[in-house]
Amino acid sequence: MKRLFIKTYGCQMNVYDSARMADLLAPIGFATTETAEDADMVILNTCHIREKAAEKVYSELGKLKLLKTAKAAEGGRMILAVAGCVAQAEGQEIIARQPAVDIVVGPQSYQRLPEMIAKISRGVGHALETEFPAEDKFDTLPEHKTADGPTAFLTVQEGCDKFCTFCVVPYTRGAEFSRPVAQILAEASALVAGGVRELTLLGQNVNAYNGPGLDGAPSSLAKLIEVLAGVKGLERLRYVTSHPRDMSDDLIAAHRDIDILMPYLHLPVQAGSDSILAAMNRGHTADTYLRLIERIRAARPDMALSGDFIVGFPGETDKDFDATLALVRAAGYAQAYSFKYSPRPGTPAAASTQQVPEEVKDARLQALQALLLSQQAAFNAACAGKTMKVLFETFGRKEGQALGRSPYLQPVHVEGAAGLIGQIVEVKIEEILPNSLKGALLHQAHSEEALAD
Ligand code: 5AD
Ligand code: SF4
Repeated sequence: MKRLFIKTYGCQMNVYDSARMADLLAPIGFATTETAEDADMVILNTCHIREKAAEKVYSELGKLKLLKTAKAAEGGRMILAVAGCVAQAEGQEIIARQPAVDIVVGPQSYQRLPEMIAKISRGVGHALETEFPAEDKFDTLPEHKTADGPTAFLTVQEGCDKFCTFCVVPYTRGAEFSRPVAQILAEASALVAGGVRELTLLGQNVNAYNGPGLDGAPSSLAKLIEVLAGVKGLERLRYVTSHPRDMSDDLIAAHRDIDILMPYLHLPVQAGSDSILAAMNRGHTADTYLRLIERIRAARPDMALSGDFIVGFPGETDKDFDATLALVRAAGYAQAYSFKYSPRPGTPAAASTQQVPEEVKDARLQALQALLLSQQAAFNAACAGKTMKVLFETFGRKEGQALGRSPYLQPVHVEGAAGLIGQIVEVKIEEILPNSLKGALLHQAHSEEALAD
C-alpha cells in the first residue's frame, strides 16, 4: 500500500470532498496516513474564500517541497497535489509559483485523479484539470460508504448562482447543481447502515436544492428531508449553508413537522445596512431577514440561529456598521462567524475604490465579535440546569470522558460515558464553560440526587 496524506482547509464541503478523494484512491492502492512525513502522495484541499486562507497554501507548499526533496534524495517519491478552490482559481499559476507541485485539480474534476496520478507516475511533467466537465462528478466518484463515526456530511448541492459581489464561490464551485434524491438516499442509507446517526446535508446554497425527486419531478430541500427522515436508524438531520432568499415555506414547515430535523439554522445575513446589502447583491433587506426569522421561530420556537457577517465591505460607514449591530441585537444569535472583508481577485467588490482601512475593519470586527460572543454566552447560560439529548461522537482527552453535541450543536462533555459513542442520551447541563457545556448523564444525576435525599 502507498500512503496518502490529505490536508483539508476551509468549509465542510472540503471535508466531504477529502473523504471522497480518499475513497477514490483506495482502489488504486492508497491508504490514508496522518502525517505528510511518511506519505507517498500529499493532497492539499484548499480554500480561496479569503486571502489568508489562500496564502496558507503557499507556505505549506514551501514546507512540503523540502520533504519531497529529502524523499527524492533517499530514492523515494512524493506526489504533491493541490485540490480545491485555490486550484480552481489559480490553476497554472500554482505550478509557476511552486514547481514542486505535480497535480492541480479543481473541485469538479476529482474523478480524474487516478488518471492524473498515472500520468505523473510515467514522469510526464505536471497534470492540470480545472474544467467544469460535462459529466456529473457524483456519477463517477465511488459511493461514499466509509463512515468515520456517528456523524457524517453528505453533499446534496454544489455551486452558487447568487454572485454576492464579495464572493469567489460562484467562480470556484461553478453553477448551482443538485444531486438526484435517489442518489442521496442511497448514500444516506449506506452511511446509516455503517453506523451514522446524524447527517448534515451540505451545499453552498443548500436550501436552493432542486434535484430530481424519486418521481422525477424537481424536489425541494424540504421534500428531500422528508424522504431522508424515513431512513430507519437515522436520528438527526441538519443542513448547511442556507441563503435567506431560498428559505421556502415548506422548509420552514419541515422544522415544525419533522422531529429529526434539528433546531439549528445557519442563515448568513452578512450585514445589517440595506445599502450595503444592496451593494453586496444579497437580494434581501435587513427587514425581510428579520421577518423571515420571526416566521421560522413561529414554526420552531427553540430554533438556535447562526450566521456569517462581513465587516468593512467597501463603502461601509459607521452608520452602516451600526445597522449590523442593530440587526444582531434584533435577531439574537446562538453563535456566529464574522470576518473582515477580504478583496478577492475577479469579484466586483474588489475593484471598488471605497475600500475600508484595515484599522477600521479591526475595530468593527472587535465590536461585532464582542456582541456576538455575549449573545452566545447568554444562549449557553440559558441551558444551565436543562436536560438535553446529546449524540456522543468521540472520547475526550480524559479517561472516561465523552464528547457530543446538543440539538443546538453545542459541544457537550460528560464523565463516565464509556460505551456511549453513537448513542443519543439525556444529559443534564451542570456547568457552562467558555467553549463547551459540562453535563451529567441523566440516570447518574438521578441516582446522585437519590443519594443526597
Ligand atoms: N471577505 C470576507 N469574508 C468573506 N466571506 C465570503 N467571501 C468573503 C470575503 N471576500 C464570508 C461570508 C460567507 C462565509 C463563508 O465567508 O460571510 O458567508
Ligand atoms: Fe458566496 Fe453569496 Fe453564493 Fe454564499 S450566496 S456562496 S456568499 S455568492
